[in-house]
Amino acid sequence: MFYDNKTTRVVVIGTGFVGSSYAFSLINQNVVDELVLLDLNKAKAEGDAMDLNHGLPFGSPMKIWAGAYSDCEEADIVIITAGANQKPGETRLNLIEKNVKIFKGIVEDVMNSGFNGIFIVATNPVDILSYATWKFSGLPMERVIGSGTILDTARFRFLLSDFFNIDVRNIHAYIIGEHGDTELPVWSQTRIGSELIDRYIQNHKPETTKEDLDNIFTNVRDAAYHIIERKGATHYAIAMGLQRLTKAILRNERSILTVSTLLQGEFSLDDLYIGVPAIVNKDGIQEVIEIDLNEEEKKQLAHSADVLKKAMDPIFK
Ligand code: LAC
Repeated sequence: MFYDNKTTRVVVIGTGFVGSSYAFSLINQNVVDELVLLDLNKAKAEGDAMDLNHGLPFGSPMKIWAGAYSDCEEADIVIITAGANQKPGETRLNLIEKNVKIFKGIVEDVMNSGFNGIFIVATNPVDILSYATWKFSGLPMERVIGSGTILDTARFRFLLSDFFNIDVRNIHAYIIGEHGDTELPVWSQTRIGSELIDRYIQNHKPETTKEDLDNIFTNVRDAAYHIIERKGATHYAIAMGLQRLTKAILRNERSILTVSTLLQGEFSLDDLYIGVPAIVNKDGIQEVIEIDLNEEEKKQLAHSADVLKKAMDPIFK
């Protein structure tokens, strides 16, 4: 572990579906030494801590407990999954009012503990709540990271690997923009192995149609709605994405992930959090990777940013 000269601590605020799945995903990862669970429902946090602890003899050593905001002082990462989540038929942007209010209280309580680490924001609408956390905490932007389109990019890579029957680790593709209905696929930079997707199709699967590719993206963008209709919530894949982000920070991996980060002129956008490729290291966001976009992609990203700004204006202006 990069932080091997000290005990690593992560505090999870919210032990609902996502928070508890994230906690479980950290077991056996050898990346977190201390895992603290916080929830308004203290009994739930205590029950999760007990249940996870009882599994440790099958895994690797960790200290897990249901704690309090005072435990944030020594935390390297505080991850917020608390808040209202989408009900069937709701968009993520419908949650703004409720969750900004909840976040104001949470972030204040965390900062009052003397916390000086990195926030990871998972609650939706994640781009706006990441911006809110940055504003409310007063921390430098690199230390407030939203899960952004890390999950959408994973869905995109999975569906492409499934369609082309190729190991997902050889699919290089990004979804950027709002983690929501205006997100966009960067087809112009999508590669299978080292071949751009158009070349790959030409050489290996010429029967592929534009409709096939459009369906893949539609299924990425609308995945959460389909899952929520069936089981009421999504949590496993987002938990894995949050675990991946946690490891990139604590192991100083300098990984490129499509997280939600503050843009300050990149992609000709400013003063908003949105999902773009960024290098993640022990200090949080090391650098935004301003990938080349074609004209259509630039237009779609500008539209996505516009939708987020319009949604944020009543709250922050
Ligand atoms: C989803 C939630 C995390 O896309 O917004 O599944």
